[in-house]
Amino acid sequence: MIQLIRGFKDILPGEVELWQEIERVARQLFDDFGFKEIRIPIMERTELFKRSIGEDTDIVEKEMYTFPDRKGDLITLRPEATASIVRAYIQHKLFAKDPVQKFFLLGPMFRRERPQKGRYRQFYQIDAEIFGVTSPLVDVQLILMLVTLFDRLQVPDISAHINTLGCPKCRPGFKSALQDMLMSVSDKLCSDCVRRRDRNPLRVLDCKVPACREALEGAPSLLDHLCSECRDDFAEVRNSLDKLKVPYVIDKHLVRGLDYYARTTFEIQTGSLGAQSAVAGGGRYDGLVKELGGPQIPATGFAIGFDRLAEISGLKPSDFERKPDIFVAALGEKSQTLAFEWSCRLGLIGISTEMDFSDKSLKSQMKRADRLGAAYVLILGDKELEEGTAPLRNMATKEQVSLPIDGMVDKIEETLRP
Ligand code: HAM
Repeated sequence: MIQLIRGFKDILPGEVELWQEIERVARQLFDDFGFKEIRIPIMERTELFKRSIGEDTDIVEKEMYTFPDRKGDLITLRPEATASIVRAYIQHKLFAKDPVQKFFLLGPMFRRERPQKGRYRQFYQIDAEIFGVTSPLVDVQLILMLVTLFDRLQVPDISAHINTLGCPKCRPGFKSALQDMLMSVSDKLCSDCVRRRDRNPLRVLDCKVPACREALEGAPSLLDHLCSECRDDFAEVRNSLDKLKVPYVIDKHLVRGLDYYARTTFEIQTGSLGAQSAVAGGGRYDGLVKELGGPQIPATGFAIGFDRLAEISGLKPSDFERKPDIFVAALGEKSQTLAFEWSCRLGLIGISTEMDFSDKSLKSQMKRADRLGAAYVLILGDKELEEGTAPLRNMATKEQVSLPIDGMVDKIEETLRP
């Protein structure tokens, strides 16, 4: 038997209802905050991700699904959505009418990481991006939206971690202080970190190898190297979070795994997913639109790991599962023909109806109705056809009413929707 690919998964009925509910709640929140949906391809030119996420990141170095198409052009299954949304924003000149644009996107992403709980090779993100606003208040709004969404989805045990990565003005000073420190612990670092130390030292802070993490405990903090604008900017973020009563922790190690960030970065972390503590991450990327060929327009955003969110939400799929409104237990050919006609007509008016097509016994049909959780069962056999009425049983109260076969669909509608 052919099995699915390692690190990929099916989301089956019984689980998918929770995904639908999460999607519904997220869409409502985006709508309330003025975000518009954007849909973009799942493949892009490899160059787009290299230039935006950064050549020295784990994603670009090790995790992308990249292959030549038939003409030899290198294409990549998107490992995240931000780069593509920026590409679309520039390509369609979405800034021309109004540079301020807010987008959200739901969809699959692909990273060839080592699969484990909460980490998949095809996973889903709920992504949000805001273009054209310099004020750090929109970063705060994004964090507020995340915390609100997690609250509405009954996610326990989460905390918002925030940090700032400075700007092109203050980061070089920090980088050289960090490089000096990294030189002194070089013998304790993994080979990736030694290589990244010279090219992109911030990436070293993001290394997941335990020995590297230990060696980096005394690393300098960007918070001590901020220029006055970045310091004020970060203070405004904190003040505004305080005002909105959003709890947070300042996490100076939060450098994020992508190169495009500057200033505010944040993650929503959870204690319930083992090693995969980040359920959502994001931050400001003021330089990326220009870097990818557009005008100098600031931007900020986040992405939630949908799979992780579904795993830790306190909501249960069964709370959102649609059960049949009515099961028609039909016995004999004539009854079945009639039941089929009714079930089609009931379906068309939004009354979900199931029936049995194989002429099973009444007992086994009743069992199936019970298993499906049907709210009502209508019994239709030769006797009922002769008498011109059929019993409709409320499965919860066990009450039974007799309905005329003539005009049955209308009668069922009246009974179910008084
Ligand atoms: P990211 O931190 O790489 O950021 O991913 C965001 C979230 O996606 C993570 O916090 C995690 O929940 C989920 N995630 C990442 N990799 C996996 C995986 N292999 N399996 C399951 N879940 C995963 C970004 O992608 C940025 N584009 C976020 C952003 C948007 N920044 C600005 N705008």
